[in-house]
Amino acid sequence: MSRIAYVNGSYVHHASAAVHVEDRGYQFADAVYEVVAVLNGKILDMEPHLARLSRSLQSLQIAMPMSDKALSVVLNEVKRQNRLRNGILYFQVSRGVAAREHGFPDGSISPSVVVTAKRLNFDAIKEKQKTGISVKTMVETRWARPDIKTVCLLANVLAKAEANKGGATDAWFVDHNGMVTEGTANNAWIIKGSTLITRELSNDILAGITRSSLLEVAEKEGLKIEERSFSVAEAKAADEAFITSTTNFVMPVVSIDGQKIGDGKPGSICQKLIKFYWNYLEN
Ligand SMILES: Cc1ncc(COP(=O)(O)O)c(C=O)c1O
Repeated sequence: MSRIAYVNGSYVHHASAAVHVEDRGYQFADAVYEVVAVLNGKILDMEPHLARLSRSLQSLQIAMPMSDKALSVVLNEVKRQNRLRNGILYFQVSRGVAAREHGFPDGSISPSVVVTAKRLNFDAIKEKQKTGISVKTMVETRWARPDIKTVCLLANVLAKAEANKGGATDAWFVDHNGMVTEGTANNAWIIKGSTLITRELSNDILAGITRSSLLEVAEKEGLKIEERSFSVAEAKAADEAFITSTTNFVMPVVSIDGQKIGDGKPGSICQKLIKFYWNYLEN
């Protein structure tokens, strides 16, 4: 079955789906995006993802291309046409197409909207959750507004490539005070004793939807939570560590810069969180 994408009002074959060469997303990264997971045919956390898209668009003064209701119809239609049971829907909105000029185009241009679907095997994620991942810390090289979910991801791409080259799965960015901000596409957490610690929301990190859902789940389960910055040294001395994201859910981090966290295996609280989170997603 061929893959189908949505581009500016049309459902087209993924292989030939395209936007104009002068799309400002392509030329200036003047675009924002979202990724939602589809689990057993259900789109997860649609509302908070649409709310974050709207916040990102507002921050860049890009007009909302369609109502949330219309966008959710498009997302469901892409899911249906791709017969997507498990995977992700990617959606991107750029300022639109205009002759290349740094300044905002004169007059009104229509935002470009693209939606694609990709199958994922979540059993592979479940397997990975049993062993965890490794991260390498790196100086923060992103622009000053990573809280806006723009497609300007070059620093993230390069950091991940450098981490991979050194044998690590991902990178954790570290600010000029030596405090961890977040991963290249995930939020960073540590556990000390029975307390979950994750950086407070600010312009410095993306307000992860998984972060927010897990905070709710953890609170309901009576776990202690501190939303505050933590240093690389504190992370290395933590009992457990993990990341959260739409595609990894809750994923244990078992080593940082080659140093084992705890005994180098997913810890007991993290395993509980994984269980709680799957329970939250599947019910
Ligand atoms: C930089 C960054 N931080 C955190 C996240 C996690 O956000 P979410 O849980 O909404 O997927 C992402 C997801 O892509 C990200 O790119």
